[in-house]
Amino acid sequence: MELKIALLGFGVVGQGLAEILEEKSKALHSDTGFQAKIVAISDMMKGSLYHPDGLNIVEALRAVKETGRLDAYPEEPGLTRGWDSFKTIQETNADTIVELTFTDVKTGQPAIDHCRAAFKCKKNVVMSNKGPVALAYQELSELARINGVRWGYEGTVMSGTPALRMPITALSGNRINEIKGILNGTTNYMLTRMEEGMSYADALAEAQGLGYAEADPTSDVEGYDAQYKITILSNIVMNVPLEREDVACEGISKLTREDMERAKQEGKRWKLIARCWRDGEEVIAKVGPEAIPLSDPLAGVGGALNAVTYDCDLAGPITLMGAGAGRKETGFSILIDLINIHRNQL
Ligand code: HSE
Repeated sequence: MELKIALLGFGVVGQGLAEILEEKSKALHSDTGFQAKIVAISDMMKGSLYHPDGLNIVEALRAVKETGRLDAYPEEPGLTRGWDSFKTIQETNADTIVELTFTDVKTGQPAIDHCRAAFKCKKNVVMSNKGPVALAYQELSELARINGVRWGYEGTVMSGTPALRMPITALSGNRINEIKGILNGTTNYMLTRMEEGMSYADALAEAQGLGYAEADPTSDVEGYDAQYKITILSNIVMNVPLEREDVACEGISKLTREDMERAKQEGKRWKLIARCWRDGEEVIAKVGPEAIPLSDPLAGVGGALNAVTYDCDLAGPITLMGAGAGRKETGFSILIDLINIHRNQL
């Protein structure tokens, strides 16, 4: 069955996904049987398009590249313009909503309301937005379940690196007693550069220039981005409904060059570590800078890379390392959720 997709948001990730679907459509079909067409795109800044038979993705990408807006998309019979996100969810023939709007990390909105509306219309949702998963996981997963639809969020932690799907599928049967990871690329990049002698301010400016940082980098440097991600891991991998406020959080803004030098002399390296561990029936979680020994696999993770170690009762400690952000990488995280929706519909 061909998935009919509506994209909410047509920024870096939305365009990355559109490019992947365009470039790989033949290979995806022959390798996995997966077929999808984008029937709608709704973006608050760039405009919106809907065609029940599918949009011409090359033209949509060209319009945005050349003019920054979707208005330059060619006119054709059956095309509708100007629908907002809720009308796109409720009134298009899309069966799957890909939610890629800019989310307010304090409220999780408008993405939480987009999920509610889509699930009530019996439409699947796939997203890389952390807000709804970190703030409303219990409510939204139940709403998806009772409406018989799927909710995919692989890209919320470590983008296309399978930090959620790998423990749930490949490590199934283990009791995971602890998860600890480097879950924020911006701060890891900054710490790597500061260890090389760069100042905090220059390292932050460089990370922003390379596009790793959140729109408000406070979220990165004060640890809130990692706090969201460890909350998601606790809820989904450990199956314990931890709230974000339960996670003690400290960022890297107080670390000095002297701290870095001292750690070096002691054979250690500072990393912003997010961890959660079992304490009886409960899970405790925290985010903060830790000077870890160089023998720890996480100590070798440099630059903007992310990594996470799952401490399993049967398989032992398993560490997964890979990209935590990026146009293609996050585009892929959306694609793998779509492929899995397709696989379960067969
Ligand atoms: N600002 C985030 C990071 C992007 O630096 O890891 C991915 O969530």
